[in-house]
Amino acid sequence: QKIGWSLEMAEKAGYPHFMLKEIYEQPRAIRDALHGNAGIIRSVAEEVARYEKIFIVAMGTSYHAGLVAKYLFQRLAKKVPIVEDASEFRYEFEDLVDENTLVIAITQSGETADTLAAMKLAKRKGAKVLAIVNVVGSMATRIADLTLYTHAGPEIGVAATKTYTTQLTVLTMLAIELARVLGTAGEEYLERLEMELNTVPELVERVLKHDGSLRELAEYLREKRDFFYIGRGISVPTALEGALKLKEISYIHAEGLSAGELKHGPLALLEDGVPVVAIAPGGKTFDKVVSNIEESKARGAYIISIGNRDDLGKVSDVFVKMPEMDELLTPIVYAVPLQLLAYHLAVLRGNDPDKPRNLAKSVTVE
Ligand code: G6P
Repeated sequence: QKIGWSLEMAEKAGYPHFMLKEIYEQPRAIRDALHGNAGIIRSVAEEVARYEKIFIVAMGTSYHAGLVAKYLFQRLAKKVPIVEDASEFRYEFEDLVDENTLVIAITQSGETADTLAAMKLAKRKGAKVLAIVNVVGSMATRIADLTLYTHAGPEIGVAATKTYTTQLTVLTMLAIELARVLGTAGEEYLERLEMELNTVPELVERVLKHDGSLRELAEYLREKRDFFYIGRGISVPTALEGALKLKEISYIHAEGLSAGELKHGPLALLEDGVPVVAIAPGGKTFDKVVSNIEESKARGAYIISIGNRDDLGKVSDVFVKMPEMDELLTPIVYAVPLQLLAYHLAVLRGNDPDKPRNLAKSVTVE
């Protein structure tokens, strides 16, 4: 029934919102990010390898991608970048930036005022600037010495989805290649990881099948007022991003934190029925996360866990089962159920997830 279709409806390709369309585009977008960067990642990694002092600057969801990159760089390349929100970096680190510094700026739009200002400052101080950008020809690409594109295609929904998972894809490629250049991880492992990274589009396809059950979960949770998202290690940024998605579009108060921090304050806020979303992919801190879940449960929290191990199901009210994968790839795949949960909560609460109140797609003023 094409008569009466507006351009906007046509652009949504049958989806009720751009955000949902963009969530579903992720397998394709990730594939494009992988193919689009395969040929150049080596030369960029060689450049990155020359620097001891690395800053990663970004805002919002891109900042969370930067936090994930910190774990990837640490674990694979044994390099510890300083990740700062760009609005802070400009004032706090000005004196520490010099020609021996590399600044990696992550920005979907390439137009975020604080991120651009941080990049300009870096250039003025003689630092090398690498940008990870989605919008071709944007200001960030003009300031940067080097650019890696995320190839996600245009993102209309204000809440970043496919641009986030493609940023993570590019950063994972970069960390793997950096480890190779520096010889900081075994080649056999790196090859295996790379092969698994190439299967992430299929893993995301599989996770998208949880859409229906996440909608049902959202029905159950729609009147809740506070959410907590917890994780450890590389899942801490995933927890932060899950909370941000929820705040942005559903207008429900949410906090993301390291599970270890629960005891240092937030536990006081847990009471009957408060949702705690635990990101628990496994790895060396798995048992610790389980005990944090148990502590939360003892205070009456409603536990939604996202992970792969079946024992997680036993301690949770709802268990969203993820496919098995290397822990370093979980930030990409585990972001998807968190996006869907936030999306359904926003819609059920009568909000337009594409145009959240008070927020803009690209913040071009400081
Ligand atoms: C705004 C958007 C966010 C985005 C942030 C950074 O706040 O609403 O979704 O993460 O800007 O944008 P950038 O284009 O620099 O990634």
